Amino acid sequence: MPYTAYARVSDEDIAAMYQWFMNEVAPSDYQPPATELPFPFNIRLSMAAWNLLFHDNRTYTPDPAQSDEWNRGAYLVEGLTHCGTCHTPRNLFMGEDRSRLLAGGAVGPWAAPDITSDRNRGIGDWSVEELVQYMKTGSIRRSQASGPMAEVVDHSLQHVTDEDLQAIAIYLKSVPADASEQGAQTVHDWGQPGNRLAEVRGVTLPEETNDWSGPQLFDAYCAACHQPSAQGTPDGIMPALYNNTATGRPESNNLALVILQGIHWFGDGHEMHMPGFAHELTDQQIATLGNYLIEMYGNPAAELSEGQVSALREGTAQAQGQPDLLLLARIGLLVGVLVVLLVIGLVLRRRKKNRT
Ligand code: HEC
Ligand code: HEC
Repeated sequence: MPYTAYARVSDEDIAAMYQWFMNEVAPSDYQPPATELPFPFNIRLSMAAWNLLFHDNRTYTPDPAQSDEWNRGAYLVEGLTHCGTCHTPRNLFMGEDRSRLLAGGAVGPWAAPDITSDRNRGIGDWSVEELVQYMKTGSIRRSQASGPMAEVVDHSLQHVTDEDLQAIAIYLKSVPADASEQGAQTVHDWGQPGNRLAEVRGVTLPEETNDWSGPQLFDAYCAACHQPSAQGTPDGIMPALYNNTATGRPESNNLALVILQGIHWFGDGHEMHMPGFAHELTDQQIATLGNYLIEMYGNPAAELSEGQVSALREGTAQAQGQPDLLLLARIGLLVGVLVVLLVIGLVLRRRKKNRT
């Protein structure tokens, strides 16, 4: 629940939402499942301490040096659309690291990429029109929204007015790049059309499906839509898999998750779906295929292991390059308890000494 972002929203807008919820939203009998948080996150009181340290309760204050449009964009990004909840990295205590605003965070196992003006890792190379198009439809030539971002577009951004999307894009283009991260090459600049069909033609497929090669898997499962050289269709409905941020990032979780889960839209205007292959392909096949896509069409610095795919399938995977928060919280708690025990021990010893 991104209340740290909603705190930026003006009182008028919250009052307007209250009116709408109370008067327009039909009552429902749906019983949501009970919240299940692992220890120590299930101690609700710990949020009070966390809020004291990391929660800023103030509404958005416009920057008089910037245009009205920029301020509108910043207001929406900071508050109602809460982009930073996913896209801003977090510190060890799960607070957003404001010094690295929008420089790339995580949602479960998914990487929410850098969306600062960085030309290599971020959206510095995107035009305002491309950003608006991405937020409106979830799909432009170099990037298609999947996973949590597909939900953001589907349930939220596609309903935002063009003026507001434009304001968001203008603001995003001004967010400074994160100096601590350097990309070698633009994430949507890797790869080129090509295929290794010659290796596939006239060759009988191995009986053991895990022995299928990358080109064999691509030909059998992907080429019908993404086309034999991964060039996609001219109308862009089937995207090319080279010059695509999906294969150009150094992290490979998102790519594996898209192959496992596919992309599903519920809203209007999206007839095309990308099917998921969790039931058809084994972990090893997905790793072979993913590595083939990375090597052939993407950033060769990335790699995908079979163990990683199986953890993603089981739902036990962490985002790449992110601390294991549960482990950290438990270690922190253990250290805290040990310190308290130590202090008690010392005090008791002192008393005993004083008595003797
Ligand atoms: C619920 C978490 C979440 C929220 C909220 C969210 N995003 Fe995302 N976003 C993601 C994830 C995850 C991806 C990666 C999707 C993928 O790989 O297809 C992503 C991808 C993107 C991309 C594509 C980047 C690339 O390199 O391909 C852009 C642009 C983007 N988001 C902008 C935004 C903006 C602007 C907002 C706020 C208006 C926003 N996002 C809110 C999770 C989120
Ligand atoms: C039935 C057609 C179809 C098949 C088969 C298919 N795809 Fe896709 N794929 C799509 C469509 C459509 C999109 C773009 C969805 C959108 O724009 O919302 C897409 C998007 C993608 C993306 C980009 C996702 C992102 O996060 O940017 C990747 C990567 C991908 N497909 C890989 C594959 C692989 C690998 C296979 C084979 C295992 C495959 N696809 C099979 C239709 C297909």
